[in-house]
Amino acid sequence: MSDQRLIVAMDFASLDAALRLAEKIQPESCRLKVGHQLYTAAGPDAVRRLTDMGFEIFLDLKYHDIPNTVANACRAAADLGVWMVNVHAAGGPAMLEAAVAAVGSSGPRVIGVTILTSIDARQYEQIGYQGELADQVTKFAVLAQSSGLDGVVCSAQEARALRSRLGEDFLLVTPGIRPNGADLGDQQRVMTPAAAVAAGSDYLVIGRPITQAKDPRQVIQTIQGELELP
Ligand code: C5P
Repeated sequence: MSDQRLIVAMDFASLDAALRLAEKIQPESCRLKVGHQLYTAAGPDAVRRLTDMGFEIFLDLKYHDIPNTVANACRAAADLGVWMVNVHAAGGPAMLEAAVAAVGSSGPRVIGVTILTSIDARQYEQIGYQGELADQVTKFAVLAQSSGLDGVVCSAQEARALRSRLGEDFLLVTPGIRPNGADLGDQQRVMTPAAAVAAGSDYLVIGRPITQAKDPRQVIQTIQGELELP
Protein backbone atom coordinates (compact mmCIF):
# COMPACT_ATOMS: atom_id res chain seq x y z
CA MET A 1 0.00 0.00 0.00
CA SER A 2 2.74 2.44 0.94
CA ASP A 3 4.32 2.15 -2.52
CA GLN A 4 1.13 3.58 -4.02
CA ARG A 5 1.27 6.70 -1.88
CA LEU A 6 4.27 8.34 -3.43
CA ILE A 7 3.96 10.82 -6.31
CA VAL A 8 7.24 12.17 -7.71
CA ALA A 9 6.99 15.76 -8.97
CA MET A 10 8.65 15.76 -12.41
CA ASP A 11 9.62 19.43 -12.35
CA PHE A 12 12.00 19.38 -15.30
CA ALA A 13 12.71 21.82 -18.15
CA SER A 14 12.80 19.15 -20.85
CA LEU A 15 11.40 15.75 -21.69
CA ASP A 16 14.93 14.34 -21.89
CA ALA A 17 15.65 15.34 -18.32
CA ALA A 18 12.34 13.84 -17.18
CA LEU A 19 13.02 10.59 -19.03
CA ARG A 20 16.50 10.34 -17.50
CA LEU A 21 14.95 10.41 -14.03
CA ALA A 22 12.10 8.08 -15.00
CA GLU A 23 14.61 5.48 -16.18
CA LYS A 24 16.15 5.37 -12.71
CA ILE A 25 12.91 4.66 -10.86
CA GLN A 26 10.10 2.13 -11.14
CA PRO A 27 6.36 2.41 -11.77
CA GLU A 28 5.77 -0.18 -9.06
CA SER A 29 7.12 2.20 -6.43
CA CYS A 30 5.63 5.58 -7.36
CA ARG A 31 3.40 7.65 -9.60
CA LEU A 32 4.58 10.80 -11.40
CA LYS A 33 3.28 14.35 -11.38
CA VAL A 34 3.57 16.35 -14.61
CA GLY A 35 3.12 20.05 -13.92
CA HIS A 36 3.18 23.36 -15.77
CA GLN A 37 6.92 23.45 -16.51
CA LEU A 38 7.30 20.04 -18.14
CA TYR A 39 3.89 20.19 -19.82
CA THR A 40 4.59 23.62 -21.31
CA ALA A 41 8.02 22.52 -22.51
CA ALA A 42 7.14 19.09 -23.85
CA GLY A 43 3.34 18.93 -24.15
CA PRO A 44 1.21 15.80 -24.06
CA ASP A 45 4.17 13.77 -25.34
CA ALA A 46 5.62 14.01 -21.84
CA VAL A 47 2.51 12.29 -20.49
CA ARG A 48 2.48 9.71 -23.29
CA ARG A 49 6.16 8.79 -22.96
CA LEU A 50 6.01 8.43 -19.18
CA THR A 51 2.75 6.46 -19.44
CA ASP A 52 4.39 4.17 -22.00
CA MET A 53 7.07 3.44 -19.40
CA GLY A 54 4.31 2.15 -17.13
CA PHE A 55 3.86 5.17 -14.84
CA GLU A 56 0.49 6.52 -13.73
CA ILE A 57 0.35 10.28 -14.18
CA PHE A 58 -1.07 13.08 -12.05
CA LEU A 59 -1.53 15.95 -14.53
CA ASP A 60 -1.08 19.00 -12.31
CA LEU A 61 -2.35 21.82 -14.52
CA LYS A 62 -4.76 23.31 -11.95
CA TYR A 63 -7.53 24.18 -14.42
CA HIS A 64 -9.47 27.36 -13.60
CA ASP A 65 -11.72 28.71 -16.37
CA ILE A 66 -15.36 28.75 -17.45
CA PRO A 67 -17.11 25.38 -16.95
CA ASN A 68 -17.24 24.46 -20.64
CA THR A 69 -13.51 25.07 -21.14
CA VAL A 70 -12.54 23.17 -17.99
CA ALA A 71 -14.83 20.28 -18.91
CA ASN A 72 -13.19 20.03 -22.33
CA ALA A 73 -9.70 20.20 -20.82
CA CYS A 74 -10.59 17.44 -18.34
CA ARG A 75 -11.97 15.32 -21.18
CA ALA A 76 -8.71 15.82 -23.10
CA ALA A 77 -6.75 14.77 -19.99
CA ALA A 78 -8.95 11.69 -19.66
CA ASP A 79 -8.29 10.86 -23.33
CA LEU A 80 -4.56 11.11 -22.60
CA GLY A 81 -5.09 8.41 -20.01
CA VAL A 82 -3.92 10.27 -16.92
CA TRP A 83 -4.67 8.89 -13.45
CA MET A 84 -5.43 12.23 -11.75
CA VAL A 85 -6.18 15.84 -12.75
CA ASN A 86 -6.78 18.93 -10.67
CA VAL A 87 -8.86 22.10 -10.82
CA HIS A 88 -9.05 25.21 -8.65
CA ALA A 89 -11.92 24.99 -6.17
CA ALA A 90 -12.22 28.79 -6.57
CA GLY A 91 -13.65 28.10 -10.05
CA GLY A 92 -16.97 27.51 -8.29
CA PRO A 93 -19.52 24.69 -8.13
CA ALA A 94 -20.61 24.83 -11.79
CA MET A 95 -17.01 24.50 -12.99
CA LEU A 96 -16.26 21.72 -10.50
CA GLU A 97 -19.39 19.76 -11.41
CA ALA A 98 -18.61 20.17 -15.12
CA ALA A 99 -15.10 18.78 -14.54
CA VAL A 100 -16.45 15.72 -12.71
CA ALA A 101 -19.15 15.10 -15.33
CA ALA A 102 -16.63 15.41 -18.17
CA VAL A 103 -14.34 12.62 -16.94
CA GLY A 104 -17.15 10.25 -15.94
CA SER A 105 -16.85 7.47 -13.40
CA SER A 106 -14.09 5.58 -15.22
CA GLY A 107 -11.90 8.62 -15.93
CA PRO A 108 -9.15 10.20 -13.87
CA ARG A 109 -9.67 11.22 -10.27
CA VAL A 110 -10.46 14.93 -10.08
CA ILE A 111 -9.08 16.82 -7.13
CA GLY A 112 -9.36 20.43 -6.08
CA VAL A 113 -6.76 23.04 -5.24
CA THR A 114 -7.87 25.02 -2.20
CA ILE A 115 -5.44 27.83 -1.37
CA LEU A 116 -1.86 27.46 -2.55
CA THR A 117 0.55 26.89 0.31
CA SER A 118 2.66 29.77 -1.06
CA ILE A 119 -0.11 32.19 -0.02
CA ASP A 120 0.60 33.52 3.46
CA ALA A 121 -1.74 35.54 5.68
CA ARG A 122 -0.64 38.85 4.16
CA GLN A 123 -1.16 37.80 0.55
CA TYR A 124 -4.43 36.17 1.53
CA GLU A 125 -5.65 39.56 2.71
CA GLN A 126 -4.20 41.35 -0.33
CA ILE A 127 -6.20 39.08 -2.65
CA GLY A 128 -9.29 40.22 -0.77
CA TYR A 129 -10.29 37.09 1.08
CA GLN A 130 -12.04 37.65 4.41
CA GLY A 131 -11.82 35.62 7.60
CA GLU A 132 -9.21 33.05 8.53
CA LEU A 133 -7.13 31.36 5.82
CA ALA A 134 -7.60 27.93 7.43
CA ASP A 135 -11.39 28.39 7.40
CA GLN A 136 -11.29 29.28 3.71
CA VAL A 137 -9.26 26.13 2.98
CA THR A 138 -11.98 24.11 4.74
CA LYS A 139 -14.72 25.94 2.80
CA PHE A 140 -13.02 25.15 -0.51
CA ALA A 141 -12.55 21.51 0.48
CA VAL A 142 -16.21 21.19 1.51
CA LEU A 143 -17.23 22.78 -1.80
CA ALA A 144 -14.97 20.36 -3.67
CA GLN A 145 -16.57 17.42 -1.90
CA SER A 146 -20.15 18.60 -2.39
CA SER A 147 -19.41 19.19 -6.09
CA GLY A 148 -18.38 15.56 -6.49
CA LEU A 149 -14.58 15.86 -6.56
CA ASP A 150 -12.50 12.95 -5.26
CA GLY A 151 -10.31 15.02 -2.98
CA VAL A 152 -8.09 18.07 -2.58
CA VAL A 153 -4.47 19.11 -2.61
CA CYS A 154 -3.59 20.51 0.79
CA SER A 155 -0.64 21.08 3.06
CA ALA A 156 0.06 18.22 5.44
CA GLN A 157 -0.56 20.71 8.26
CA GLU A 158 -4.17 20.95 7.11
CA ALA A 159 -4.63 17.20 6.64
CA ARG A 160 -5.76 16.24 10.12
CA ALA A 161 -8.55 18.84 10.28
CA LEU A 162 -9.71 18.10 6.73
CA ARG A 163 -9.68 14.35 7.29
CA SER A 164 -11.94 14.63 10.32
CA ARG A 165 -14.24 17.10 8.56
CA LEU A 166 -14.51 15.30 5.20
CA GLY A 167 -14.41 11.63 6.13
CA GLU A 168 -12.24 8.68 5.18
CA ASP A 169 -13.10 8.45 1.47
CA PHE A 170 -11.99 11.94 0.47
CA LEU A 171 -8.46 11.97 -0.99
CA LEU A 172 -5.87 14.27 0.55
CA VAL A 173 -2.83 14.92 -1.65
CA THR A 174 -0.01 16.69 0.17
CA PRO A 175 3.11 18.43 -1.20
CA GLY A 176 5.67 20.07 1.11
CA ILE A 177 7.02 16.70 2.23
CA ARG A 178 10.64 16.28 3.28
CA PRO A 179 12.19 12.99 4.41
CA ASN A 180 14.27 13.28 7.58
CA GLY A 181 17.47 15.18 6.85
CA ALA A 182 16.48 16.41 3.36
CA ASP A 183 17.05 19.98 2.15
CA LEU A 184 13.97 22.16 2.59
CA GLY A 185 14.54 24.12 -0.65
CA ASP A 186 11.91 26.88 -0.79
CA GLN A 187 9.32 24.89 1.18
CA GLN A 188 8.52 26.58 4.49
CA ARG A 189 6.17 24.30 6.36
CA VAL A 190 7.21 20.72 5.80
CA MET A 191 6.36 17.34 7.27
CA THR A 192 8.07 13.97 7.02
CA PRO A 193 6.34 11.30 4.92
CA ALA A 194 5.37 9.26 7.99
CA ALA A 195 3.99 12.30 9.85
CA ALA A 196 1.95 13.33 6.80
CA VAL A 197 0.40 9.86 6.49
CA ALA A 198 -0.30 9.81 10.23
CA ALA A 199 -2.06 13.18 9.79
CA GLY A 200 -4.35 11.66 7.14
CA SER A 201 -2.56 12.17 3.82
CA ASP A 202 -3.34 9.62 1.10
CA TYR A 203 -0.73 10.70 -1.43
CA LEU A 204 2.62 12.38 -0.84
CA VAL A 205 3.97 14.67 -3.56
CA ILE A 206 7.77 14.81 -3.35
CA GLY A 207 9.98 16.53 -5.89
CA ARG A 208 13.55 17.67 -5.32
CA PRO A 209 14.52 15.25 -2.53
CA ILE A 210 14.04 12.54 -5.19
CA THR A 211 14.65 14.30 -8.51
CA GLN A 212 17.92 15.92 -7.37
CA ALA A 213 19.23 12.86 -5.54
CA LYS A 214 22.31 10.95 -6.70
CA ASP A 215 20.36 7.75 -6.24
CA PRO A 216 16.62 8.48 -6.59
CA ARG A 217 15.65 4.83 -6.30
CA GLN A 218 17.42 4.61 -2.94
CA VAL A 219 15.59 7.70 -1.64
CA ILE A 220 12.26 6.17 -2.67
CA GLN A 221 13.16 2.94 -0.87
CA THR A 222 14.12 4.85 2.26
CA ILE A 223 10.81 6.75 2.23
CA GLN A 224 8.90 3.52 1.80
CA GLY A 225 10.84 1.98 4.64
CA GLU A 226 9.84 4.88 6.88
CA LEU A 227 6.20 4.49 5.88
CA GLU A 228 6.19 0.79 6.66
CA LEU A 229 7.43 1.25 10.22
CA PRO A 230 4.66 0.56 12.75
O1 C5P B 1 10.48 19.76 -4.90
P1 C5P B 1 9.29 19.75 -3.99
O2 C5P B 1 9.14 18.48 -3.17
O3 C5P B 1 9.20 20.99 -3.12
O4 C5P B 1 8.06 19.78 -5.01
C1 C5P B 1 6.73 19.92 -4.58
C2 C5P B 1 5.82 19.90 -5.76
O5 C5P B 1 4.49 20.11 -5.31
C3 C5P B 1 6.11 20.98 -6.80
O6 C5P B 1 5.75 20.42 -8.07
C4 C5P B 1 5.16 22.09 -6.42
O7 C5P B 1 4.77 22.86 -7.54
C5 C5P B 1 3.97 21.29 -5.90
N1 C5P B 1 3.11 22.03 -4.97
C6 C5P B 1 3.57 22.56 -3.78
N2 C5P B 1 2.69 23.23 -2.95
C7 C5P B 1 1.41 23.36 -3.31
C8 C5P B 1 0.92 22.81 -4.50
C9 C5P B 1 1.83 22.15 -5.32
O8 C5P B 1 4.74 22.42 -3.44
N3 C5P B 1 0.58 23.98 -2.48
